[in-house]
Amino acid sequence: MFEIKENFPLKKYNTFGIDVKARYFSMCPSKDELIQSINKYKKEKLPLMILGGGSNVLFTQNFPGLIIQPALKGIEVINENSRVIQLKVGAGEDWDEFVEYCVEKGWGGVENLSFIPGNVGTCPIQNIGAYGVEVKDVITEVETLEIETLKTHRFKNADCHFGYRDSIFKRALKGKHIIMHVYFRLSKKANFILDYGNLQNELSRFDKINLQNIRQAVIDIRNAKLPKPEETGNAGSFFKNPVVDKKELEQLQLNHPEIPFYSFGDETVKIPAGWLIEQAGWKGKKMRNVGVHEKQALVLINLGHATGEEVVQLAHNIQQSVWEMFGIELEMEVNIV
Ligand code: FAD
Ligand code: EPU
Repeated sequence: MFEIKENFPLKKYNTFGIDVKARYFSMCPSKDELIQSINKYKKEKLPLMILGGGSNVLFTQNFPGLIIQPALKGIEVINENSRVIQLKVGAGEDWDEFVEYCVEKGWGGVENLSFIPGNVGTCPIQNIGAYGVEVKDVITEVETLEIETLKTHRFKNADCHFGYRDSIFKRALKGKHIIMHVYFRLSKKANFILDYGNLQNELSRFDKINLQNIRQAVIDIRNAKLPKPEETGNAGSFFKNPVVDKKELEQLQLNHPEIPFYSFGDETVKIPAGWLIEQAGWKGKKMRNVGVHEKQALVLINLGHATGEEVVQLAHNIQQSVWEMFGIELEMEVNIV
């Protein structure tokens, strides 16, 4: 039954494992419940936050208002032919369970995005990406509930202004809409994307390349370098990989000829922040309750009883060192609350 809970503990609702509470919390399995919850927030003039799986947030204090967790479920086929299938998926579906379902059905397009934590409703917000694929490549539309007007909107892919870890929902529409459903177009024909890092290599141990094996290879690579949130609190990459123009890269190469980079547009390149952080000496460092993961320097970890403030302090120290060493400003990917 729908209920708004009070003084709700959030430790199990954020993958960093930060021990804070929300004044009110409501899990909403339908649009009706979303509307009822929004009305409470409006009546009491409370701060409002939307929470999915909590895998890209860092709480720095108790939340003084209402947290709404959209829990709309369902994977509905809305159209298909021999080549493609179109799906409407509820925001509250678990992202990786959705990927697993698609792979089992033989629908391609999301297999490289295996094992990313979080909910389907959140995937458009930062346009989740991994192993050469971004979710924008398969999203056709995003359906939202506008908090102010309680109107339903449908945003076509082009209206979402997707970019690298970016979308309109992180910018102009931040905090203004609740994503209720995401529409995907997946492929029934093989169209594998295998050119990222060591994915090909990882696949060489399988006798054939298919969706299942790509999913397994991605899971194995991820397991080898990313900490499991159930064991070690974290939110994946804490920073974005910085994008710099080619002239700036040439300057950097004068002092750091070995700097890795990937082409990103005609005039710019992306530099792995993990490398910058490692060069600045932070990889594997521990400071009281927080640390930098020993296998992937882009991941900050909770060593047990960290507060959000401690993580933020560590992040600022890292930003400072990278700035001093390379003149590059690291931008946080994680949403600080
Ligand atoms: P939350 O953390 O709950 O929310 C994130 C933001 O979205 C918040 O600002 C929240 O207010 C807002 N929000 C959530 N749901 C809604 C909604 N329905 N409507 C409106 N706003 C909403 N990300 C990648 O892109 N690639 C990776 O490879 C990757 N690997 C990861 C590995 C690990 C171990 C972890 C812990 C995280 C990783 N991430 C990765 C980050 C994270 O999984 C994604 O950003 C994911 O999409 C977050 O989903 P969530 O439901 O947990 O979002
Ligand atoms: N590197 C280092 N040291 C490190 C980590 C990385 O030198 O400690 C360098 C290496 O040169 C390595 C390169 O960085 O080859 C790239 O590393 P990796 O393949 O692990 O990817 P990443 O750039 O660190 C990005 C995403 C991940 C995503 C992977 C795989 C961002 C901010 N992060 O990480 O997404 O899973 O690529 O595609 O773009 C997330 O967003 O939370 C996340 C985990």
